[in-house]
Amino acid sequence: MNKVAVFSSKKYDRIIADSHIESSPLAFTFFESALSEETVHLAQGFDAICIFVNDEANRTILEKLKSFNITVIALRCAGYNNVDIKAADELGFTICRVPEYSPEAVAEHTVGLMLTLSRKFHKAYNRIREGNFALDGLMGFNLYQKTVGLIGTGNIGIATLKILKGFGCHIICSDPVQNPEAIALGAKYIDLNELFQQSDIISLHCPLLPPTYHIIDESAVNNMKKGVMIINTSRGALIDTKAVTQGLKSGQIGYLGLDVYELESGLFFEDLSEEIIQDDVFQRLTAFNNVMITGHQGFFTSEALNTIARTTINNLQTLLSNQVLDDEFIIRSQ
Ligand code: NAI
Repeated sequence: MNKVAVFSSKKYDRIIADSHIESSPLAFTFFESALSEETVHLAQGFDAICIFVNDEANRTILEKLKSFNITVIALRCAGYNNVDIKAADELGFTICRVPEYSPEAVAEHTVGLMLTLSRKFHKAYNRIREGNFALDGLMGFNLYQKTVGLIGTGNIGIATLKILKGFGCHIICSDPVQNPEAIALGAKYIDLNELFQQSDIISLHCPLLPPTYHIIDESAVNNMKKGVMIINTSRGALIDTKAVTQGLKSGQIGYLGLDVYELESGLFFEDLSEEIIQDDVFQRLTAFNNVMITGHQGFFTSEALNTIARTTINNLQTLLSNQVLDDEFIIRSQ
């Protein structure tokens, strides 16, 4: 029986996994620790590992895994910026992922952040609990007829576009690969700088790659409409947090909704309520009343988790029994 070490596992991962692994010929061991240079030794004796968004698989870690005869890594997520894919290819690893599990889950969360900020739900929730029924300071704005700029029109971008069409938004997009579905839905592809200039709301749905690192930097922020809303449910490092903080302080950015943060590893997915958060940049963000942050929970619906578990187990079973896995599940450097 092939053995799989699961890193960064939480109680909910085990509960969901339990209902899928009964019928699987694989034996899973769940570790709470994230994969890192300090914890990679836990993988010794296993045939494969299963990792998540904040597990680190750099060259040093991959070399260590190789020395344990591990060459299969299953990501139980879509993004793979945490894996050194070039090193993995050179070392002969097979890396698989779950390319699409519920784009709607992330899209609905994205629009939830937009509505929270546009209608100030976060403030209203607290006011009502304190018996304050005054409306001063709660005036919002309609999404109807606003221009929304989507950066990235893959699965999640398209799912977001469909919801926003229902609100009557005008949609403009930037993506090196134009998606015919977006055009059929009435969206227009334009140059990124024009998207910055024309959008009332900008929502990020592209992967984190060298060309997209800090795609929202100081010059991008200065190029945007004053009072713009920025939403990032994709990957934290698409945004230069310091530039965006400056934009919030000057009023250039009117609203910021984040489900991801560039230094989220070590913060997100943990209960740190008894500790002092040492990240001053993050703490400054939480102090703005026009910033709404969730801790990387866009994917976190029962539908998505069940699909992730099913696909990940199928990926592992296929690879560990030396069968061919469909290309869409495999990550390669080219
Ligand atoms: P996808 O692969 O279907 O689409 C990504 C799109 O981004 C593609 O159309 C691609 O051409 C485009 N793109 C690549 N470079 C670009 C650039 N420089 N500018 C504009 N667009 C560019 O991926 P999917 O499933 O839509 O996911 C998007 C991202 O969402 C993932 O990479 C991941 O980082 C994030 N994500 C976040 C989750 C959460 O829980 N918050 C859950 C799942 C994914």
